[in-house]
Amino acid sequence: MHQPQPTDVRLGRIVRLLMEHATVVVSGTKIAEEISSSRSEVWRLIQQLRGLGVDVAGQPASGYRLRSVPDLLLPEVMQPLLRGTIFDERLQHFYKIGSTNTAAMAAAADGAVEGTVFLAEEQTAGRGRGANAWQSPRSTGIYCSAILRPALPPSDVLVLSLAAGLAVYAAIQQIDARVLPDLKWPNDVLIGGKKLCGILAEMNAEATRVRYLVVGIGINVNQASFPKDLPATSLRLTTGSEWSRVELAVALLKSLDREYRSLLANPDARESILKRFAENSSWVRGKNVRIEENGAAFEGTTAGLDARGFLLVRTDQGTQTVLSGSVRKR
Ligand code: BTN
Repeated sequence: MHQPQPTDVRLGRIVRLLMEHATVVVSGTKIAEEISSSRSEVWRLIQQLRGLGVDVAGQPASGYRLRSVPDLLLPEVMQPLLRGTIFDERLQHFYKIGSTNTAAMAAAADGAVEGTVFLAEEQTAGRGRGANAWQSPRSTGIYCSAILRPALPPSDVLVLSLAAGLAVYAAIQQIDARVLPDLKWPNDVLIGGKKLCGILAEMNAEATRVRYLVVGIGINVNQASFPKDLPATSLRLTTGSEWSRVELAVALLKSLDREYRSLLANPDARESILKRFAENSSWVRGKNVRIEENGAAFEGTTAGLDARGFLLVRTDQGTQTVLSGSVRKR
């Protein structure tokens, strides 16, 4: 199978170096020394960075300077901010990839360690739940997949994916507390009824044990518009200004780390996740919904989550438990 090419680590090192010397010009010789390459190789890499949208001034004779801080999800930029989390030193960055989830599932099957994260600037075959595609234009959203190896039975994975929604919620609130996302069971984050984020959790499991799990998170961050027929929004459309994807991705991974560790270590965490999910969701109670599950459909009113995180829906025939269906407003 065609392997996606991770980003040349020297690109990240150059960006980091230029960021550390943001106010001055850095000579080609110094950069070449720092990344153990030649000056002509530095020039080639600088050209590559420019092609990727990084605004670098200068040339080989004069040296180089960043005109503005680039908002790329480079490990060299994010890693120092993720010390102490399970994701520290485990970031893999791609300028272009088919799907970070597909790549992470393949890497997990090959033995990649827990905490490995795939981040991409652009996905050419981003996947959503069901057979849906996930639009992933370049350097506009966050496209991120984390490999986890929880010592949990498969029946606990739903709670973990609800926790991923809470992590997105917390990250957004930490950056701008005025933005109030609405968690939609099981795996969406909405603003004003429109989709802001989708989560695709995929796993490989035995009957009683998860071998590995990939939590894929797509967040619409700086999109300026969406096709009319797509009920989607972005953080930029919500607040009227651009968001730093680096800041948001760091906040997201930190809060995912917190939720995950607490779920594994703390017997009360599951209850807390279900409670907080319900508190931050207009969908969990009292919403008139239509459920489609396994080719059948029914209507009712949502009536909370059960202890495993499944959605309860009160219908004329009694209370039904929704295991994996799609939920729509009626
Ligand atoms: C959905 O709402 O249907 C889930 C969307 C999940 C999209 C993310 S983007 C990063 C990761 N890679 C993928 O191909 N999909 C997930």
